[in-house]
Amino acid sequence: MNLESTQMEFLPISINITNKKVLFIGGGKVALQKIKSLSRFDAQITVVSTAFDPEVEAHKEITCITKSYESADLDGYFLVYACTDSNHTNEMIREDCHKKNILVCVADMPKLCDFISPAIYKTGNTTISVSSNARNAKKSVEIRNQIRKIYEQSEGHLDKLSREENGYNMKTDSPVNLPSHHSGSKGKVILAGFGPGDPGLLTLKANQHLQEADIIFHDALLDVPFLDRFPGQKVSVGKRCGKHHKKQDEINHMLVEAAQEGKKVVRLKGGDPFIFGRGGEEMSHLLDNRIDVEVIPGITSAFAAAAQYGLPLTHRKAGSSVAFCSGHDLSGKSFPKADTLVFFMGASKQCEISKGLIEEGWAPDTPVALLSNISNPQSRAVISRLDQLCQEKLIIDTPLLIVVGQTVSRIPQDFLPTHEYFVNQDIEQ
Ligand SMILES: C[S@@+](CC[C@H](N)C(=O)[O-])C[C@H]1O[C@@H](n2cnc3c(N)ncnc32)[C@H](O)[C@@H]1O
Repeated sequence: MNLESTQMEFLPISINITNKKVLFIGGGKVALQKIKSLSRFDAQITVVSTAFDPEVEAHKEITCITKSYESADLDGYFLVYACTDSNHTNEMIREDCHKKNILVCVADMPKLCDFISPAIYKTGNTTISVSSNARNAKKSVEIRNQIRKIYEQSEGHLDKLSREENGYNMKTDSPVNLPSHHSGSKGKVILAGFGPGDPGLLTLKANQHLQEADIIFHDALLDVPFLDRFPGQKVSVGKRCGKHHKKQDEINHMLVEAAQEGKKVVRLKGGDPFIFGRGGEEMSHLLDNRIDVEVIPGITSAFAAAAQYGLPLTHRKAGSSVAFCSGHDLSGKSFPKADTLVFFMGASKQCEISKGLIEEGWAPDTPVALLSNISNPQSRAVISRLDQLCQEKLIIDTPLLIVVGQTVSRIPQDFLPTHEYFVNQDIEQ
């Protein structure tokens, strides 16, 4: 067949590439561009070349093999990209692929291609691809960019767009993206905080990852119905008040397994993952299993409580230090030396906390705030004193935070009733 006289027509289809083996012959700049585009999908990429562009070599999710091409290299591959700098070698690769019934894309020679790479925009489960039958790649990119802009504006993603135009990439430029400590990473987990409950406190970055997730392992202390809007599978692994839905070992195992299967995994925690969230343990377990971890911080319930009830955790005249403490197991431990103490998981230990602090020299009349269900409509607040906590349980709703210190007295009288969730008659001052 005379290729020159043939009118090329490329049919746009979407191929399932998950875990499929894709081979690049040639590891230079041309390959790099195509690898960048492909690495947004979950293929297993191998590059065979005698020399590599440093960015190709540094790419942690691909395998680089230093050798000259031979036809046996193609065995077992689903797709092949011929990207060497020799037209002769690229044509030979094409012929070898056809003998082995493997689809091949020959760089810069569209007439020799079984498939071409369109200009792609991918967000979550939406993929927009633009091609020009291999006639005008630049035009395809321009059209793709225009569509992307319209799409993101209509989705209310203006913030994200302007970040990207300013050179940020929400997915990859995270300052808290932990580098892989292993040459052969076996997947990745996003460890993200949801905040204390109100989805309005979710970060844009966590929202972006949730949109793209294949599977979301989530805690109980967050707005679970809100997660319905994300297309990925939801798995509840929440623990509440000792009712352990899943054991920590089981959760660790499920995270590793899902990441190794090549899924985009988000582990979503209430508040911030690193504040009494076992985020540190899960991160270590994942890294030990050669799974990369990216941590997206969340707004801890302590900060949200302070904001909701106008309680400054530090105050120039009332407190210059703050400590977050677990109220769960107080046996044999002394309390931190700080002006403001915030107790997590202390709902059933109010009396023990009170006695312990007074024994350690805290004034019995130190103000205390009991703040429950922060950022939820059922939220309640009671202001009391340290020596009142054993009289009766002033507030028993959970989840509950207990804030102790003079900063509690700085809650403005007229601040509280203006808050949407505040129940005024519960305040006893
Ligand atoms: C296992 S800790 C998780 C803390 C979470 N990582 C954070 O940063 O807020 C659970 C405790 O956090 C506090 N907590 C979490 N969400 C809360 C909320 N919405 N209102 C009040 N306290 C909350 C309670 O003290 C609860 O017992």
